[in-house]
Formats: sequence, structure tokens, C-alpha cells
Amino acid sequence: MKVNVLLTPSNLDELSFSGKTIVIIDVLRATSTIVNALNNGAKEIIPVATVEFAVKVSGGMFGGLTLLGGERNTKKIEGFALGNSPLEYSAKLVKNKSIILYTTNGTKAVVKAKFSKNLYICSFLNLSAVAEHLNSLNMDFEILCAGRNNSFALEDTICAGKLISEIMKSKKDLELSDTAISSVALNKALGKNLAKMLAESEHGKLLLENGFEDDIKFCSKLNSINAIPYFTGNVVKLLAR
Ligand code: MLT
Repeated sequence: MKVNVLLTPSNLDELSFSGKTIVIIDVLRATSTIVNALNNGAKEIIPVATVEFAVKVSGGMFGGLTLLGGERNTKKIEGFALGNSPLEYSAKLVKNKSIILYTTNGTKAVVKAKFSKNLYICSFLNLSAVAEHLNSLNMDFEILCAGRNNSFALEDTICAGKLISEIMKSKKDLELSDTAISSVALNKALGKNLAKMLAESEHGKLLLENGFEDDIKFCSKLNSINAIPYFTGNVVKLLAR
């Protein structure tokens, strides 16, 4: 079983994902939001790559059962019901709802990887659930870090390293690419105090400046949610287990 880490989605062609098992990570905050929304009873998340498409898709859907969510520059988009704070996606608001979600990096990465054979969503929140599932699949996989503006993001790479380390507890012979080895090393060096690491990351600092301190705390809650979001038929749903 082999693992590779794609440190950013830049320069990757959509077709390069065909037939692969992919795990998408955008700790701050898209994949944390998706995990929390589905765990709180949302029916499905429809990830989109542009705001225009989000609005277009929502126009063709029936009012009350669909919500538009997402952010631009960390803030809720005008006319959208929800931003991209995972804490906004409470059971009261999202239960049984289809959520059309646009975010600057995270949902774009999901859309880019849409031709994958298997596509899972991971964050610190559901890391051990994803690790357990990949262990049982016993297939080569790649981790796609959404990164920030097509470049490296510390928190996504550390989450990738932690996921690999978790799998290696039972798969000692897991074969690691150079980026996978680097991610594991980075997690060893900086992945002990997740809330501190997130607060010190570039994206974390931006979120703090914009008043999202509670999101940093929430996104650092390792293994607090036992759920695996899975992309199928253009929507993300909980994997039945
Ligand atoms: C993204 O997809 O770029 C992020 O989730 C942005 C954010 O809301 O912090």
C-alpha cells in the first residue's frame, strides 16, 4: 500500500485523479465544516468551484430544503445563508438540508478531484475514522491538501502527516513518497498542540484577525467526530458504515 501527498492542487489536471483513491484536507476550514455539517444531519453538501455556479444551482432547487454556504476572504458571501464557520452548521439549521458550498480553496479542490474512484473528506475532527477506513480498503491512496491560494498550507500538511502516522500504527509496511515522509516529519515536529499550531499558521492568523477564534479551537478537536464524508454523484454524503 502506497501513499503520496499532493501539497497543493496547483498544476494538477482533473483527469490525473481518474481511478485513484483521494483524501481531501482543508483544515481551515472547508473540510472541518463539511464534516461537522454532515455529522449534524445535513442531507448532503454540493461543493462548487465558483460563486456564480452556487447561485445558479440554488436557483433550480426548492427553497426551504437548500441552503447556500461559503466564504470570500473568510467572510460570508452576500445573500448566502451561511458562511464557512463550522460552528454555524448546527443541527438546528442544517438537519435534512442540501447545502451548496463555495469556499476559496477547499470546495475547488473537491471539484478538481471529482473524477477520483474514491474521494473522502478529512480534517482533524474525523481523522481516525478516515484512517480506519483507508486501512480496511488496503489500497494505494493520495492526500490532496487544498492549501492556500494554490500554495502550501502548514495545517493541511500536518493533518496529512497525522493521518499517515495513524495508518502506520497498523500498516508498518506503508510505502511513503517524499512528500508523505515530509508530512509525517512535520506532524512530529509541530503537530502536538494543534490549537497552537493552527493559531500560528498564516491562515489561522487571518481567521483570528477576522474574529474566528472559536473556529480555530473547534477545528483542532482531534477525533471528535466519527464520520466519513464521501463524494459520490457530484455531492458529498456520509459514508454508510
Ligand atoms: C477555503 O476553502 O479556502 C477555506 O475554507 C477558507 C476559510 O473559510 O477559511
